[in-house]
Amino acid sequence: VNKGHGVKGLAELGLKSLPSQYIQPPQERFETNNEEANQDLIPVIDMSNWDDPKVARAVCEAARKWGFFQIVNHGVASHVLEDVKDATHRFYELPAEEKHKYSKERSVSNSVRFGTSFTPEAENALEWKDYLSLFVAANVDEAASLWPPVCRNEALEYVKSSEPVVKKLMAILMKGLNVKEIDENKESMLMGSKRINLNYYPKCPNPELTVGVGRHSDVSTLTVLLQDDIGGLYVRNTETMKWIHVPPVSGSLVINVGDALQIMSNGKYKSVEHRVVANGNSNRVSVPIFVNPRPSDVIGPLPEVLQSGEKRLYKNVVYKDYVMHFFSKGHDGKATVEFAK
Ligand code: SIN
Ligand code: FE2
Repeated sequence: VNKGHGVKGLAELGLKSLPSQYIQPPQERFETNNEEANQDLIPVIDMSNWDDPKVARAVCEAARKWGFFQIVNHGVASHVLEDVKDATHRFYELPAEEKHKYSKERSVSNSVRFGTSFTPEAENALEWKDYLSLFVAANVDEAASLWPPVCRNEALEYVKSSEPVVKKLMAILMKGLNVKEIDENKESMLMGSKRINLNYYPKCPNPELTVGVGRHSDVSTLTVLLQDDIGGLYVRNTETMKWIHVPPVSGSLVINVGDALQIMSNGKYKSVEHRVVANGNSNRVSVPIFVNPRPSDVIGPLPEVLQSGEKRLYKNVVYKDYVMHFFSKGHDGKATVEFAK
């Protein structure tokens, strides 16, 4: 079906109504009450001075309460962010045959995968989204040799430029857990591998009946997300359970805690449910970098965290098994973390 075209191809057929496979059950559809969604605001943290203890406190507090925050003045040049968004549009404008070369069935390497929805073979209803997923191995330049030329350099530059931000955030978050030093083993568990996704959410004929991305939490340690100025990402407030909009802030990066860090911190940092609405007026792009453990790493609550004698909430799991579990089903809120209980 629709090979290489993805949802963008469907949207461009000029459909008057949403194909039935995309109709979500009523409880998963998005009834945003914007008044409610704008009541709370996830923190926007100014990183001009990384060494300021107030900044560190704000980061750790946001990771505990919200699991989500935005950062500005983070040090990644704005042209790098603009360039990777432009490159994302360029990739999706390629002819279908060209994109199809990178599809799961055809791609020469599992470090490059063009796909649609999340796990089409396991989902009850499809999501209104296409993606290009690029795996970043230890040797970044080598990994990128197979990425599509129209977006390779821009994606690579974005990954490289955001690396100091990731390192500094991890150092702050680990200090907040009484971890004194990030040794080689911890470095691997916290940021040993990465994946960058170039997401495309085309304009949708019946946005109220479907979703861009269904409710889920990320399986990363941290996710660094670049969004354009369209908006549509909603995050759950873990106290009120209300959905809160993450407004586009020019030049910002959205940072969120993923399941792997929730597990390592024994639940202190929250990996929070989020979702994306489908949009009836505009195409939207977003570019997350998933910062992950290495696939073979065994992750569990860190010894420094358990030192106080607190109860261990998660068992040790091999990270690749955790990820396989995540990708074996559709998006289902916070259910994946049960795998580590
Ligand atoms: C996601 O969480 O999967 C996507 C987030 C976004 O596109 O804003
Ligand atoms: Fe996500």
